[in-house]
Amino acid sequence: MTDTKTTILHQERIVPQIFRLCLSSPGIAQEARPGQFVHLRIREGTDPLLRRPFSIHRVDRERGEVQVLYQVVGQGTRLLSRKPVGERLDALGPLGHGFEVSEEGGGVLLVAGGIGIAPRFFLCEDWLRGRAGTALIGARTRDGILCHDLLRSGGVTVHIATDDGSFGDRGVVTDLLNAQLEAGREASASPIVYACGPVAMLASVAALCRAYEVPCQVSLESRMACGLGACLGCAVKVRSSVPPGYEYQRVCTEGPVFEAEEVIW
Ligand SMILES: Cc1cc2nc3c(=O)[nH]c(=O)nc-3n(C[C@H](O)[C@H](O)[C@H](O)COP(=O)(O)OP(=O)(O)OC[C@H]3O[C@@H](n4cnc5c(N)ncnc54)[C@H](O)[C@@H]3O)c2cc1C
Ligand code: FES
Repeated sequence: MTDTKTTILHQERIVPQIFRLCLSSPGIAQEARPGQFVHLRIREGTDPLLRRPFSIHRVDRERGEVQVLYQVVGQGTRLLSRKPVGERLDALGPLGHGFEVSEEGGGVLLVAGGIGIAPRFFLCEDWLRGRAGTALIGARTRDGILCHDLLRSGGVTVHIATDDGSFGDRGVVTDLLNAQLEAGREASASPIVYACGPVAMLASVAALCRAYEVPCQVSLESRMACGLGACLGCAVKVRSSVPPGYEYQRVCTEGPVFEAEEVIW
């Protein structure tokens, strides 16, 4: 883990409210694995006091660059979106436990709701190279569908669903997942599912994967304070083999990626 002063190399708005930020940070770029995150101090001082966590979207290890894809939802992300190229930004990372990748199984299914595509992209670039992979991307409207062209150019098959039908199928991403799992069952191919998005979507993904007996890893988000395992502010309830049958684990350290079966939704 590196605590470093990064420099903003590039910042662009890719659709309204969604920005891509490129930071110079050779230490983080070198160590980062798919599913991990960086914890950014948005401003010196107390407002906002806490760092903000963002998944690592892409790294270029040779150039020492780290990219984040983020949505403006409040004060911290609004301030971040106004930062100019050249400004120094304090970053902790890479943090957390990322995706466990397996060489086995009948293909990889990436399931993303909206900005949840951000860490899945790193997973594709870093690990999927040349393998059969399918990404299922869902959002409310076409503006929320991100990275589909980049994924396709990397050889990933992409299926899209929007709530209003403005891009891809009309419906939700779990409709696409259901169809894929059904096709996989008919072909006797059991994929591995990697999912990220809103909690309600992840709970539905987990239920479908359980029904089809398909392994699934989910990347969870919760409000974070320290990001380092000390404050317990980010804890989620997971199953345990000892009474009372559950325990709390920290999204920032044991997560953000968990086996879907472990999580109590
Ligand atoms: C491990 C992890 C990875 C993340 N990766 C990304 C990413 O790649 N791209 C991205 O855009 N966002 C990501 N997030 C969410 C991001 O951290 C928050 O959107 C950001 O901290 C909001 O800061 P803010 O000051 O703009 O908003 P605030 O003013 O703090 O909050 C604005 C609204 O967003 C909600 N919110 C804030 N933080 C979270 C959170 N952590 N989980 C759920 N709801 C939240 C609040 O409840 C509130 O409604 C990630 C969060 C975690 C925990
Ligand atoms: S944010 Fe402090 S323990 Fe996770």
